[in-house]
Amino acid sequence: MESNLIGVSTNIARVRDLIQRIADTELNTVVFGDTGVGKELVVKTLYEKSDRNGGPFVKVNCAALPDTLLESEMFGYERGAFTGAQRKMRGKFEQANRGVLFLDEIGDMSLSLQAKLLHALQDGEFIPLGSERTVKSNAWVIAATNHDLAEDLKAGKFREDLYYRISMASIYIDPLRKRPEDIAPLISYYTEQYVSQLKASQPLNINKNLMDKLIAYHWPGNVRELQNVLRRIIVLGEGEESIDTMIPITNHRQNIDDDKKQVSNNPKFIKFSGLNGQQLDLSDLSLKKFKKQVADQVEKDVISYVLEKTGWNRTRATQILKVSYKTLLTKIKELELTPLNNF
Ligand SMILES: Nc1ncnc2c1ncn2[C@@H]1O[C@H](COP(=O)(O)OP(=O)(O)OP(=O)(O)O)[C@@H](O)[C@H]1O
Ligand SMILES: [Mg+2]
Repeated sequence: MESNLIGVSTNIARVRDLIQRIADTELNTVVFGDTGVGKELVVKTLYEKSDRNGGPFVKVNCAALPDTLLESEMFGYERGAFTGAQRKMRGKFEQANRGVLFLDEIGDMSLSLQAKLLHALQDGEFIPLGSERTVKSNAWVIAATNHDLAEDLKAGKFREDLYYRISMASIYIDPLRKRPEDIAPLISYYTEQYVSQLKASQPLNINKNLMDKLIAYHWPGNVRELQNVLRRIIVLGEGEESIDTMIPITNHRQNIDDDKKQVSNNPKFIKFSGLNGQQLDLSDLSLKKFKKQVADQVEKDVISYVLEKTGWNRTRATQILKVSYKTLLTKIKELELTPLNNF
């Protein structure tokens, strides 16, 4: 089935344009974006639009395996290369000859394996474990990651030389909350798919109120989360009322985005806490809940403010915030903080 990249936002328009251009040139490419934004879909589309379509498409998940296993999976091994290697095994690099080698979650690859990958890319050949022969492979390497690799470079977690090798081109996919105009088209696309899969005669009618809610929600799990919500309504028939439990937060996406801008421009903003023009949903309000919401938001604002002011120098930020490094990293992840000028 051909991949279908849905969206009307300028970000998706740019992604489509890049796909077209990169598919013609077959430059090594990295696709960046948060979880569920469509990185794998973009990689598959690159493959389909290229002359390699029909050739092998081989995926390696760099985060799923311990180092040595990943190495043998990528480069292959000879019989007897290690205990349990009962027969020779072609690595994925070799399998991807004349096709695409998709390195998923490349940001999670260890430094030592990064060095091996770099050599393989530089020489166009490599030696399988326990082997004496060199193997050549003409694979088009496309990688994906949800890491900010530029940050990882600075932190010494990713090799600079490998970075330049694999990212001759790069594609950034924005999170859904930054392109809310894509939500309605995605909903109608997937609604139609799920309804027809079910051969249901009843089309799903999403009323305006519900659509507004879906568009305002911040979708931390991006398109995958949207698919799950729609599947639950359509396939499991949970009904539209259940949307409230699936996306429980009275949403303030716009406000959050505006607040972020204010935080970066205006140091005094930090003193603010309170309503600040937020719309409150009176049908679903308790003081306790509201207090928690505001506290969470203030925490997010304070941390992102400090990170922006320190140029995302995390060590400096921990000193200012007086928290441990570990706590800060957990918060960054939990609150999904990213540099404002990241993309
Ligand atoms: N623009 C889009 N149009 C249509 N479907 C999309 C779009 N973006 C994502 N999807 C669908 O959403 C699901 C999740 O996308 P995908 O697996 O490509 O995300 P990902 O970025 O690789 O996520 P992860 O980081 O979790 O691996 C897939 O079923 C994909 O087809
Ligand atoms: Mg993926």
